Amino acid sequence: MFVDLMKLSDIAREYGYSFDNLKRYNEMFREKLPDFLEANEKENKDSIRVNTLKITMNELYDRLTEKGFVLSNINDYGFVIEDFNFSISSTEENLLGYFYIQGVSEMCVSSILSPTTNDFVIDMCAAPGGKTTHLSAIMENKGCIYAFDVNKRRLSALKNNISRLGCLNIAVFNLSGEKIKKINEDPDKILLDAPCTGSGVIRKDSLRKSIKSTHDVIFLSEIQKKLLKAGIDKLKSGGTLLYTTCSLEPEENEFVVQWALDCLDIKLLEIDIQINGIPLERGYIDIFGRKLSNEILLCKRTLPHVHNTNGLFMAKISKL
Ligand SMILES: C[S@@+](CC[C@H](N)C(=O)[O-])C[C@H]1O[C@@H](n2cnc3c(N)ncnc32)[C@H](O)[C@@H]1O
Repeated sequence: MFVDLMKLSDIAREYGYSFDNLKRYNEMFREKLPDFLEANEKENKDSIRVNTLKITMNELYDRLTEKGFVLSNINDYGFVIEDFNFSISSTEENLLGYFYIQGVSEMCVSSILSPTTNDFVIDMCAAPGGKTTHLSAIMENKGCIYAFDVNKRRLSALKNNISRLGCLNIAVFNLSGEKIKKINEDPDKILLDAPCTGSGVIRKDSLRKSIKSTHDVIFLSEIQKKLLKAGIDKLKSGGTLLYTTCSLEPEENEFVVQWALDCLDIKLLEIDIQINGIPLERGYIDIFGRKLSNEILLCKRTLPHVHNTNGLFMAKISKL
């Protein structure tokens, strides 16, 4: 234990975490716990992913800087808004679908699946569509994407985003991702951005410091396993599935992937990207009293105190 329990309970009160959650993060981040706590107190600056179906990075940069936005170039996909006179969401460029407001690490996810213009892709949990519409842009509006989600309200946001961004290769289904077995053709690629406790987005929603319990983590991990099994069962042999969550919790991440390695015919693939110039962190293989296989090191994480972004988990899986 890095910090003793008495001190931990004071820190939990000071920063607004439930004691149980903070105990978990103490075990995960150890001497980096103070950095983690402080990083979560910062707000993310707004960032936008350029919708290359409608405009180039340079054209959008020029249009927005003319209006007084100060943009910094963060990666191949978009910009961080460093300074502004009015909200980026109120711009004509937003209404015209020239960009999607998306976190810096979130906008790096879809390209990891590397869909091609000929692929049939299924996004099992798609709403509100940040990653689906990015897949569509990477595929240049070709190939075909089936986007599933169970939540009707979020699905209408997905449909609005699809139409605003001019995506023509997406069909939307108000179905559980578990129902993908009903689709006739087997997909080449699957994105599974699974429902999760969302503890990686504490910067955006501080309630997540305390509102979810270990019970929720375990409950969601069972749903995540069911969705992952349905995805792998349906995927073409040799196809790729990207499993991702915005949760920090090993039970929703490494443990789910370890379960899949033990029970399904899969292997993990390398994910080789940097965020803000910093390589991603590797998956945990010795945590909460469990020792996992070395292959789990191929899973990757972004962390608030390392990458100055939300915390995401990613595992790139190949079906054998
Ligand atoms: C992390 S969010 C997806 C975010 C989305 N990929 C994006 O980038 O905008 C998870 C989504 O899973 C949906 N969901 C929950 N259970 C589901 C299920 N069994 N099948 C499909 N979608 C589900 C939720 O409604 C929610 O929209």
